[in-house]
Amino acid sequence: TVHSFQEHFDSKIDREVSIEPRDWMPDDYRKTLIRQISQHAHSEIIGMLPEGNWITRAPSLRRKAVLLAKVQDEAGHGLYLYSAAETLGITRDQMYDQLHSGKAKYSSIFNYPTLSWADMGAIGWLVDGAAIMNQVPLCRTSYGPYARAMVRVCKEESFHQRQGFEIMLSLSRGTEAQRKMAQEAFDRWWWPSLMMFGPPDAESPNTEQSVRWRIKRFTNDELRQKFVDVTTEQAKVLGLEMPDKDIKWNEERGHYDFGKIDWNEFWNVVKGNGPCNKQRIDARRNAWENGQWVRDAALAHAAKRKARTGE
Ligand code: 3HC
Repeated sequence: TVHSFQEHFDSKIDREVSIEPRDWMPDDYRKTLIRQISQHAHSEIIGMLPEGNWITRAPSLRRKAVLLAKVQDEAGHGLYLYSAAETLGITRDQMYDQLHSGKAKYSSIFNYPTLSWADMGAIGWLVDGAAIMNQVPLCRTSYGPYARAMVRVCKEESFHQRQGFEIMLSLSRGTEAQRKMAQEAFDRWWWPSLMMFGPPDAESPNTEQSVRWRIKRFTNDELRQKFVDVTTEQAKVLGLEMPDKDIKWNEERGHYDFGKIDWNEFWNVVKGNGPCNKQRIDARRNAWENGQWVRDAALAHAAKRKARTGE
């Protein structure tokens, strides 16, 4: 029997066959992937800014080299993801324009300030820890180029998480002042890290469809719960107090119960009123404007080479 394009697509999704760039796909599938992948890429690029602030202030050459490597990795993750988004028909310039004009979103977590060196530990441990929770399932997302980009990203992400945890471990075993700095960073980054997973499933307009299309393998709340369970155990190793007084092991659920998340704060930050939103977007706009001459030079060079060799 002749299958309609839609039936063919649906059967591939059901049989867990990757959807590739040249395959037919529903317009909404393409649209939601462009939305998610481009915003994921923006998150990686914006995510370089909070840590960039501490590369010149790292306490040792080793810490400086490791942080520099991590920030460079984030840039690479952004470029893989912009390339994956391009396979769906959006251009780099369109994506950059959406970011610089404030039209596109990027992860709320990067709109918070990094006030001490311990923030580099808390970000690696919590933010990259949350990113791993979210990105491992994305290695099996139904869109081929996105899944393949995630495989490479996840390998590097675990190094990011380990180096952050190691910073927190050294601080928590250091002087009283260092322990206090680690606890203070934990207190500031805990709740915003839970918000990274997105709104509660009941208030998530995209989750149901994304799960049906196997773009998402788990819902926002499922991944958030996994993160709370794992991180609460890790906090015990660090000897740090949980910033949430309502954290309590629930035997029959087999998970930790935890306190209420302030969703007003979340939507406020997503809307652009977080502590650093303006600073982050201004930094990107300035980099774009100040980098114009590099783009012009590269194009002039390419045109000359083409005229010379005709390739
Ligand atoms: N920050 C900003 N916006 C957010 C958000 C957050 N933490 N969580 C959700 N939103 C937005 C969504 O983008 C959506 O708005 P839109 O329709 O205009 O795009 C709206 O809030 C409703 O949320 P939904 O749950 O319905 O949206 P999704 O189904 O897209 O789920 C998501 C949100 C879980 C972030 C999903 O998009 C996703 O898994 N994205 C890929 C992972 C990603 O972007 N991670 C960024 C973390 S930073 C990172 O990975 C870098 C690492 O190296 C530290």
